[in-house]
Amino acid sequence: MKILAIETSCDETAAAIVEDGTKIISSVVATSKEMHEKYGGIVPEVAARAQLEYIVPTVSEALTRAGTDYQHIDALAVTIGPGLIGSLLVGVETAKTIAFVTGKPVIPVNHVVAHMYANFVTSESPARSQSPPGRWLNGPLPSEAIAFPAISLVVSGGHTELYLMKNELELTWLGGTIDDAAGEAFDKTARLLGFGHGGGPAIQEAASKSRLTGGSPMRRLPRPMLDEKNKVNFSFSGLKTAILREVQKLQDKQTLDDNTIAQLSYEVQEAITDVLVKKTLRAAEAHNAASILLSGGVSANLRLREKFSIQHPAIDIHAPPVHLCTDNAVYIAACAYFRGKKTPWKDITAVPDLSVEVSS
Ligand code: KG4
Ligand code: ZN
Repeated sequence: MKILAIETSCDETAAAIVEDGTKIISSVVATSKEMHEKYGGIVPEVAARAQLEYIVPTVSEALTRAGTDYQHIDALAVTIGPGLIGSLLVGVETAKTIAFVTGKPVIPVNHVVAHMYANFVTSESPARSQSPPGRWLNGPLPSEAIAFPAISLVVSGGHTELYLMKNELELTWLGGTIDDAAGEAFDKTARLLGFGHGGGPAIQEAASKSRLTGGSPMRRLPRPMLDEKNKVNFSFSGLKTAILREVQKLQDKQTLDDNTIAQLSYEVQEAITDVLVKKTLRAAEAHNAASILLSGGVSANLRLREKFSIQHPAIDIHAPPVHLCTDNAVYIAACAYFRGKKTPWKDITAVPDLSVEVSS
């Protein structure tokens, strides 16, 4: 079954064609990231306008690269939420229009839930090659390679959520962030340290320089909510304030140089990844999980991957290759295949505050 998926929840415009939820035929991602640079954050109106400009060329390019056309597609899939309303509308209305014209069914998809299905896709660049030693799996038959029950951590710019996955279909939300997402903490720190829109990758890069010189002698930043036994909620807004204070202190002392920036990046990355790893492993133990699935932009973080394999070498840990961690339409198609419901196009609407607290 070939699905043409469309993803426009934020500042990426993406289209992909995926066969049977696992085989990537084509994938195209356009972004308006750079347009937001001067505003210090994503401007919804700017993102929506860029979506309008990019959507038709992106979908056309996905079809061209796949050497196919609408007639040879079995279904459409589209992100309906959560996300920015202006951006979501562009994808949703495009999918509905294609469905109306071609008569193909449409499958509405929850963006956050979909992230974890990047682990079900067979990739030519195995996660293993970008991950440290450990039980990193990326088998050719992903749905069979993943041992259930699994604990799934979706960690992105807007979300930090934990799920219990009994099988490809049955999913229960366990908990999530009560304020900022982990990716937001990375992004805000990056801006404070002068990395602009570089976000997590810029922090990872700077942190690796500090690590080479023996880690950070800097004050230890808080590990929020780490000690609350059996609780699976996260909080990252306090961490953001602690970083802001630390940066201000260094600026006052005029000691915010490349070296202290690297040290602060290291410590921030340590704090965020400590919390993510501990809480996920705690959930895995509580639910007797046979494997852990990582997904979302922050799961591209190499230190996070390293900590998972060091701290729990006995459990199977799955993480998509880096290009499938950040927003794209491949996992939208995969999710649609494994748990989607074909819906008449007239009944599909964008839902910016779509709940991630699923149980099915
Ligand atoms: O999944 P995603 O592309 O978009 C959302 O759905 O939010 O995630 C983007 C987030 C950003 O916060 C970005 O800074 C973070 O993922 N990210 C990383 C890394 N690569 C992307 N965070 C830490 N380390 C990375 N290597
Ligand atoms: Zn995302």
